[in-house]
Amino acid sequence: MTDQAQKLRDLLNNKGNVKEAKSIAILSGKGGVGKSNFALNFSIGLQQKGKKVLLFDLDFGMGNIDVLMGLTPKKTIIQMFEESLKIKDIIEEGPHSISYVAAGSGLTDIFHFNPHYFDYFIKQLETITMHYDYIIFDLGAGMQDQHLRFALAANECFIVTTTEPTSITDAYAVMKHLYSLENFIPIYVLVNRSFQNDGDSTLIKLKAVVERFLKHSFIPLGVLPDDRAVINAVKAQVPFLIHNKKSDISLRLNYIVEGYLGIRNVNHRSTQPHSFVTKLKKMFTRKVD
Ligand SMILES: Nc1ncnc2c1ncn2[C@@H]1O[C@H](COP(=O)(O)OP(=O)(O)OP(=O)(O)O)[C@@H](O)[C@H]1O
Ligand SMILES: [Mg+2]
Repeated sequence: MTDQAQKLRDLLNNKGNVKEAKSIAILSGKGGVGKSNFALNFSIGLQQKGKKVLLFDLDFGMGNIDVLMGLTPKKTIIQMFEESLKIKDIIEEGPHSISYVAAGSGLTDIFHFNPHYFDYFIKQLETITMHYDYIIFDLGAGMQDQHLRFALAANECFIVTTTEPTSITDAYAVMKHLYSLENFIPIYVLVNRSFQNDGDSTLIKLKAVVERFLKHSFIPLGVLPDDRAVINAVKAQVPFLIHNKKSDISLRLNYIVEGYLGIRNVNHRSTQPHSFVTKLKKMFTRKVD
């Protein structure tokens, strides 16, 4: 395993100026806070701004992004392993031409039960990372081992919370854990379901607590309102950015996408030079608990 990791590192370090996708892991402490809706609409938002996005449903519990966009995936990651398919054979086209990979049920612990699957996954990822600007992983809630490894390997982590204290304390716990494992991990925080502007105060208070007790500073990604347009869009199985592009939430999401793309240029120097694939390989050979 270590030999393989070294080979891969050498290979990737020699690839010169070839552009590689930026990887973003989206996770939360508490479940049901709006990660999948955000991951999907943020991906579409980036794509609408001319970026090429691959959205991976990697919720090791229960992936459901296909339901949010009314798609029935022909193939899933599980089938890629079981039928030795190439990753390009399981990439589907989603709304606004985003690329999408469905999880399939039973993804939990698959890499641990079968290390061969992990190697295969890495090899397949390598074949596509040059073709995208962003690869976005919807990782699901909680700090399962596999979520953590993907989060630590990604170039950036987006943590989603609502304004409820239960969700905020869980987001704090995730950050504490991530920072304890990786000091320089760039973390962005999104506050969802803000009601009567409590999102901004949540972001400010959380930032102050993280700075004081964890001695780290996350990047505020933004605040999204609690908006009935999300529920309507989920019911219609159409992403809200398309279902109701004039809704508050769509306008706010576009604002966040624009801010992120601006911030990204400013922060570009601070992100790790290592390839996501290389780091992922390293993370799966490391103890994280
Ligand atoms: N901004 C919002 N305004 C109103 N309702 C929302 C908003 N965001 C999410 N919701 C509601 O929360 C539900 C759950 O959202 P979503 O599936 O995106 O959460 P999740 O964090 O991915 O959940 P899980 O942890 O189960 O993967 C949505 O179906 C919708 O009803
Ligand atoms: Mg989800």
